[in-house]
Amino acid sequence: MDLHAAISIRHSVRSFDSTPLDPATVAAIVDLAGRTAPLDGRPVEVALAGPDQVKGSSAPYHLLAFTAQDDAGFASAGYVLQLVDLTLQAQGLGSHWIGLAGPKAKRPDFTILLAFGPTGEPPRAEAEASRLALDRISNQDDPVARAVRLAPSGVNDQPWRIEFAAGAVRLVHQPRGPMSLVLAKKMDKISLGIAARHAAVALEHQGHQVTGATATTAADGRFAVELAYR
Ligand SMILES: Cc1cc2nc3c(=O)[nH]c(=O)nc-3n(C[C@H](O)[C@H](O)[C@H](O)COP(=O)(O)O)c2cc1C
Repeated sequence: MDLHAAISIRHSVRSFDSTPLDPATVAAIVDLAGRTAPLDGRPVEVALAGPDQVKGSSAPYHLLAFTAQDDAGFASAGYVLQLVDLTLQAQGLGSHWIGLAGPKAKRPDFTILLAFGPTGEPPRAEAEASRLALDRISNQDDPVARAVRLAPSGVNDQPWRIEFAAGAVRLVHQPRGPMSLVLAKKMDKISLGIAARHAAVALEHQGHQVTGATATTAADGRFAVELAYR
C-alpha cells in the first residue's frame, strides 16, 4: 500500500501486540524519521523510546520529537512524524499520536510522540472516519482537500481550513470546538503540520513535486503552513 492509500485507512491504534518487531524494521522506521525533510529551516530531532522510558503510554515503541518550542517547531514535528504514521500504517503496523504522554527523562525541547508497534486492529474504512464535512474546511472539492480532511488532530478538532493559490496550498489555523483555547497554543500547530503532510502526499499522488513547506502567517494574521509545488 502506498502513502496516499494509507491516508484513507489509517486510524489511531490503541492496542498493540506484545511480539517485538524485527530490529531491522525498527531501525528503518527510525532512519525514515531522521531523514524526512522538516518544514523549511525548522529542524526536528527524533529519538526512539520503549515503554519504560515514557510516561502516559504502554505502547512497545515511541518516536519522540524534539523541536524549537514555537509554532513552526510544533508544526514541523507534525509534518515529519505524519509521514512516519502513514508509512507504518501502509505496512500494516499500528501508530497513535499521544499528546498526553512524554519521556520520563524531561527535555525542554520535547514536543510530541508517536507510539507504534504491531497490532491486530484491522485498517479502518474511510467512511468510518469521524470528520467534518469537506465544505467546513475547504471551498474547493479537490483530492488535496479530501486528504487533509482525513488528517488526525489533537482531540479530532480539525483546526484547519485550506486555501488554494497558483502553485501553493495553505493550511490556515482555524480553532474549533470546546477545547480550542487549550489546544490552540501547541496541539493545533502540530495538527496543522500533520494536515500539511496529507496535502503533500496528495499533491505528489497527483504527479506534482512539493518544492517547499514553510511555516508562515496567513493574510488574516493566523498561523499557517504553506506548501509550494510544481
Ligand atoms: C497531536 C495529536 C495529539 C493527540 N493526543 C492524544 C492523546 O493524548 N490521547 C489519545 O487518546 N489520543 C490522542 N490523539 C489521537 C486523536 O484523538 C485522534 O487522532 C483523533 O480523534 C482522530 O481519530 P483517528 O486518528 O482514529 O482518525 C492525538 C492526535 C494528535 C494528532
